[in-house]
Parts: sequence; structure tokens; C-alpha cells
Amino acid sequence: MEADRPLKKIAILTSGMSRGSNFIAICKWFRDRELPVGIAFVTVNKKEAPIIEKCEELGVQHVNISTRDMHVFEQELLRYLKELNIELIALAGFLKKLSADFIKEFGKPILNIHPALLPKHGGKGMYGMNVHRAVFDCRDRESGVTVHLVDENYDTGKIVFQRCVPVDDCHTPEEIAARVLQIEHEIYAPAIWQILQENLTVKR
Ligand code: GRF
Repeated sequence: MEADRPLKKIAILTSGMSRGSNFIAICKWFRDRELPVGIAFVTVNKKEAPIIEKCEELGVQHVNISTRDMHVFEQELLRYLKELNIELIALAGFLKKLSADFIKEFGKPILNIHPALLPKHGGKGMYGMNVHRAVFDCRDRESGVTVHLVDENYDTGKIVFQRCVPVDDCHTPEEIAARVLQIEHEIYAPAIWQILQENLTVKR
């Protein structure tokens, strides 16, 4: 039975005013299926981040680590990751770049979810509504979600999962955003589960 297998611990990184909707979807997906995956902690970088309340509702530890100095952030994060034997990091609304040194030292998969079909509509500044506005302005007939490994640049790591969604009937970028977010909630946790099971060696 899956639940008898050793618990795999993951960490989720968020920043700023992250809504935490992906965190909730991931947490529920694993709990509902009684799969041996636990969110050991969620990082926040603002003490008033809305995600803190969600963590408390779901009984998940949150740690406040400032991202003002990314070197200090990475050192502190590595301490938690090693201490808790974390097997995978999932970014959910984390907007900072992680350094090549950090990625190498962690040495395990780091995933990000991007609300479009990379390599289109990715890169610096392409987050949140900026992405959906670009899709809308380009009159793309479809958008989608990409789960990819994180490297030291924005949105360029190896793609591990993508799903398309038609948006040709959407009248506003907000409509696109709502449709894409629904897909994010459906695919992020299964993608994490797949990567944990494959015990993927980190090739980028
Ligand atoms: C999501 O749209 C995700 O694609 C992007 O950041 C957003 C986080 O949203 N990387 P939430 O905080 O999980 O609701």
C-alpha cells in the first residue's frame, strides 16, 4: 500500500503575496490519496503573506526567510532542506532566481509551474497577469501550463510536463488566467508525484 512506503518530504517556496492556491491543491491531492508525500514546510518572505493562514488551516509549517539577500536566503534554506531531508522543492509563485551553486548543492529536483506553454511567454517579468495579457495580446488560440525543472535562469529548465487549454473563446486576460489556474491545480501535484517516483536524476 502506498501509505506504508517511507514518507517523501517536499518543500514549497513562495514569495510576496502568494495566494497559495497551488500549495493548497498540492497538499489536498496527496492527502486525499493518502500518498506518502508530506509538505515539510512552506517558505514565505513577508510576515503578512496570505499563504500563512492557509498553512495554519492545513497544519503545515511555514518559515519566514527574507529574500532581500539571496545568498543568505539560500544558506538558510539549505540548512532546513538538509536537516529535514527534503527530496524535492516545488516553487509556487516564487519570483526570485535561485543560483547555480544552490541548485547544485541541493542536488535534488526543483520544480516550477509556469502559467503558459513555455518556451513561449516565459522569462524575466513574465509572471502573473503579465503572462495572460501576453497570451491575450498575441491572440493565441491556446495557452496552458508548464511544469519544469528549475535552473539558474527564468523559465529555461527542462520541461517535465505540459498541458494545453483552449483560450480562443476567452474575452479577457482574466478569463484566460482562471482557465489556466484550474489546470495548474490539476497537474502540479501529479507531476511532483511522478518526479518523486522516477527519482529523476537532475539533468538540465
Ligand atoms: C501561479 O499562477 C503559478 O503559475 C506561478 O505563480 C502563481 C502562484 O499562484 N508560478 P498561487 O500562489 O499558487 O495561487
